[in-house]
Parts: sequence; structure tokens; C-alpha cells
Amino acid sequence: FDSQGQPLFDSDGLLIVETALAHAASSTTKATSSRPGLIVAAGSYSALHRQYAEVPTTHWPRHIIAPGFIDLHVHYPQTDIIGAPADGLLPWLEQYTFPAETHFSSDSHAQEVAVFFLQELLRNGVTTALVFASSHPESVNALFTQAQQQHLRLITGKVLQDRNSPEGVRDDTEQSLLDTEQLIHRWHQHERLGYAITPRFAPTSSHQQLYGAGELALQYPDTWIQSHVAENLDELRWVKTLYPQARSYLDVYRQAGLLRPRAIYAHCIHLDDADRRLMHDTHTAAAVSPTSNLFLGSGFFDFAAAKHTGMPWALASDVGAGTSFCPLQTMLAAYYVGREGQTKEGLSLAPSTLWWHHTGAGAAALGLHNHIGNLQPGLEADFVVLDPHASPLLSRRSQQANTLQEQLFALIVLGDQRAIAHTHIAPRIALSNAL
Ligand code: GUN
Ligand code: FE
Repeated sequence: FDSQGQPLFDSDGLLIVETALAHAASSTTKATSSRPGLIVAAGSYSALHRQYAEVPTTHWPRHIIAPGFIDLHVHYPQTDIIGAPADGLLPWLEQYTFPAETHFSSDSHAQEVAVFFLQELLRNGVTTALVFASSHPESVNALFTQAQQQHLRLITGKVLQDRNSPEGVRDDTEQSLLDTEQLIHRWHQHERLGYAITPRFAPTSSHQQLYGAGELALQYPDTWIQSHVAENLDELRWVKTLYPQARSYLDVYRQAGLLRPRAIYAHCIHLDDADRRLMHDTHTAAAVSPTSNLFLGSGFFDFAAAKHTGMPWALASDVGAGTSFCPLQTMLAAYYVGREGQTKEGLSLAPSTLWWHHTGAGAAALGLHNHIGNLQPGLEADFVVLDPHASPLLSRRSQQANTLQEQLFALIVLGDQRAIAHTHIAPRIALSNAL
């Protein structure tokens, strides 16, 4: 993609990646500024192949190489409750979510689900995710341990929830903040891992816990912050009674010091333009989860309002309220929601816009655009290989596609996990061997 998020190549392409092997060979003969695991070159085959004639090449005829997807908001302890029916957000939390998350005090359960969860991300071409664990530190340790083994770029954190939560997931105000700080020291910036300070949402944190989270966010400015805001109208009314002084739901987080770069808020549906401008001004981003919003009947994200206020946003699955780990399905749901909201403006979200908001825009929201989210020299080699012929129907449609935009649209509308032919993670040596 270029700086506007437009795809750059639609003919035969070549991606050159520095491997550990190539690096070892070249560093014995001459000084090199390249780094194993990073992209060396990306461009059209005709322009590049002579220069790299010696490089061993894997051919993917009729496939598309694209940046790995970024899932900006997903709950790993909810992997087993996707599709649990409930009458909106608050009953869903009470009936399914909190009981499911109770089990993550068990290390063996957490490890087992973490392994499955990460496999599911990779099967769907997701190479980086910002993940909610549960309120148990064990759940964080389990996910980081598994992600580290696979050298994944993964950001997660212990959920903070010290009130309005049942026994089994409710934590203690002071201990929860101590645990958070300890987990930051243990995991944050270790290889490709990052820590996110994670208050579940305003209704389940005391003022003390929320302000404590804000203090940690100030003390550790390169950690991430993740929470939920303005998802559901019952939730909004509840927040109004708990925080009557705040101008809006989002303003509760501003007062606690929780809006800043690297802060990501899921949903952002029932905001006004003052809220959206506040997000823009504080470099706080929205994680937009249309399959979740449609499943729980929460409402429709306003893409037009996000555009005219400059509020940063990127796409996310929000599993388990979200119904799919597959970015293609999330993009399709976003397309439907955008269509509904902008019927007067015609075609709402172009396929390349949707794609950008599941890759480069996610990286920008995380402040990691110099590392991931695109296929450009110097970025980490996390990429996917897509198969436009993965199913009979998709293949027929792909044969009729005359432009790259049409081909991407066919993948979004007709594609699923089968279309993710290969997910490539940058090898471990990239970051541990600084030159
Ligand atoms: N708000 C607070 N917790 C949650 C959660 O687990 N999922 C969703 N979708 N919204 C929430
Ligand atoms: Fe969520």
C-alpha cells in the first residue's frame, strides 16, 4: 500500500526477505545494514528479478501476497463462546462471558485455549493482535508464553474489573494494579511482545482502579491501553449513573488519563462529534467490530462521522461477541454497515479501504507502522498468501475479475479461511539480533 492506503501492484510481484541463512552468509563477506526477518524489497517482478537473480524463490502463481492482518480487538478467553445467544451486551456478559472467563484462573486451561487461539489467528492470516486476556494473571502468562514460542507480535493484558462483576472474575483494586505493573516488567517489549493496560470498561472498574490504570499509563508511556466504550445504549445509561460528572462516556476515560497514543477503544458506536474529535486530538483509536455489533444488536459504527472528524479507526473481530476470526468476514460486515449508513453516498467502503483498515491502519493505531502492517523495505516480514481460487465459487468469480479492486472484493464477499493459503511470520532472529 502507498501512504493513502492504495494497493501498489496488481501484476506479477516479488517480495524479498532477509533470512537468517542469507544473513549469516553475507555478514561473513561484507558489512551489511540489513536485518534478518525484515523485508528487503517489494515490487513488480519485472523491476526486481534481475537484481535478486541469486535469491532462492518460492513461487505462488495466481496467488496474492499481502500484509498480515492485524486484529485490533479480540478476547482469547471467549474463543469457546462464539455464537452464544443473548439479549444484548449486558445479559451476554452475565450469562456467558463472565462464567467462561472464570476458568482462566487455571493455568492448564489457559494454556490449552491460548494454543488453539493462536492457531486460529494464523489460520486466518492474522499476524498481530491486541488481545484481552481475563482478570487472572495466569491467563496473561499463558498467552504471552505461547506467542513468544512462535515469535508472534502480540499485545495483551490482565483485565481490570473490581466491581459489578461476579466472584471468580472480580479482582481486588490494589492487587490488580500491582499485578499489572509486575506483568509489564515481565513481558512488555520482550522480543515482539507488548503489554496493554486493560480496564474492561467503566462500569466494572471503581474510580480508584480506573485512575490507578491512568497513573500506570502515564508511568509506562509506551505500553498500550485497551478498553470498551459506547457499545450499547443500556451500557451508556449505566455509565451515566456511575459517572454523573463526566460529559460523556468517553470523557470518563479522559478524566482518568486513559486517552493517549497507543490507547484503543472497542466499538465507539454511540459517540458524538465532540467525542470523535477528542479521540482524534488525543491520538486514541477505535477498534471497529461489525460482526460483534450486528450479533449483539449494539448498533452501527458511523464511518462517515469518523472520516469527517479524523478519528483513527481499524477493524477487529471482537471474538467472542464477534462471530468470526476471519478478517475477510469482518471486512464484509464492515462493508454492509458502511452501506447502510451511507446510502446517499453510494458505494461506501472500497475493498482497498477495508483492506487498509485491517492492516496498515491497525499498525498506525498501535503506533507500529514502522514495524508492521505493510510490505515495504525495513518492515517485518509478516505476510499472507491469498488464494483467489480456494473454493469453486470464489474461483469462478475471480476469473471474471478485471481489476485488483474487483479481485479483492471477490475475496471479501466469497472468501473464507480457505483463501488464506499461507501465513508467514518473520523469523525470531529479526529482533533478538540487533546489529
Ligand atoms: N464490554 C465489556 N466487556 C465486554 C466484552 O467482553 N465484550 C464486548 N463486546 N463488550 C464488552
Ligand atoms: Fe470486546
